[in-house]
Amino acid sequence: MLLDNLANTSRVVPSRIAEITGTEVPLVIGDAADDEHVGSAFDEHGPFDAIIQFAAHKAVGESVEKPLEYYANNLDTTYALLRVGIARGIRSFVFSSTGTVYSDPADLPFTEQATRNLVELSNPYSKSKLMNETVLTDVQQAHPELNVTLLRYFNPVGAHESGLVGEDPKGIPNNLMPFVARVAVGKLPEIGIFGADYDTPDGTGQRDYIHVVDLAEGHVKALEKAAPGLAVYNLGTGNPVSVRELITSFEKAVGRELPKSVKPRRAGDLAATYCTPAKAERELGWTATRTIDDMTRDVWNWQQNNPGGYEG
Ligand code: WQD
Repeated sequence: MLLDNLANTSRVVPSRIAEITGTEVPLVIGDAADDEHVGSAFDEHGPFDAIIQFAAHKAVGESVEKPLEYYANNLDTTYALLRVGIARGIRSFVFSSTGTVYSDPADLPFTEQATRNLVELSNPYSKSKLMNETVLTDVQQAHPELNVTLLRYFNPVGAHESGLVGEDPKGIPNNLMPFVARVAVGKLPEIGIFGADYDTPDGTGQRDYIHVVDLAEGHVKALEKAAPGLAVYNLGTGNPVSVRELITSFEKAVGRELPKSVKPRRAGDLAATYCTPAKAERELGWTATRTIDDMTRDVWNWQQNNPGGYEG
């Protein structure tokens, strides 16, 4: 079942999931940081074998403006889910972490052992995720019966191929892919390319974009393979894609040029970040198969079918 306060999603999502999967997914509207709400979700729909902790704010730029909200929400949710989950006897806890916990670009491409130095991280979002990882590591030590898996996402993008579920950020999107989608559908006037003078092949920033369905499949594998102890995996493709390459791919999906112009660099941005996903491939038997063209095609299909997002 889903426990969600609907801060960044819509109550129509469970019915769309049911349409795709043929499975009804109960939604409990509540705060994952509230032990009472978590407890009542167990009362109504439990018992459960596992918790997957997705509940967090995730906009890097916003976290710099609202650090207290980010630390409070991103840690309190984990504390409440752990307190209640352990008390109710769950076996596995899968945590949505991030490739932005890696602090030294000299380590690229990032393996799971790459440097993670809290004081070097540029924003409260990434720091809150690394702090979560520390909490989960120590809690697992004290509860050997609990299997903990940390999944470090790189740049999740894309939508389900049905066009029924997809990313629908509220307000002006911070992230590149949803911003390009809003320009393509006519909701925003022009794409701003944040810097074209980076030390990369075409001068624009490179990221390891991963299709959200590949990411979801990685979670299923992590649950299936959950073994005693603590496990950490990068979930990425290992292929860096630049801003210009992503835009070109999106234009191919749309079938026309999109308005764009080069803007100054965005504070805090790295030139490039991408991983090696070899450990997840080896130990989980998982690999990302969808290309950047699959990602832009599915986002464009989602955006066309839902020009105003979930709320229309
Ligand atoms: C990608 C590239 C920008 C917007 C995100 C999430 C973060 C984490 C990692 C999960 C960069 C450029 C962007 C625009 C642009 N996710 N850009 N014009 O910053 O890598 O972080 O993924 O843990 O939560 O925020 O992603 O999409 O913001 O930027 O040129 O309008 O696109 O400079 O090179 P980022 P992004």
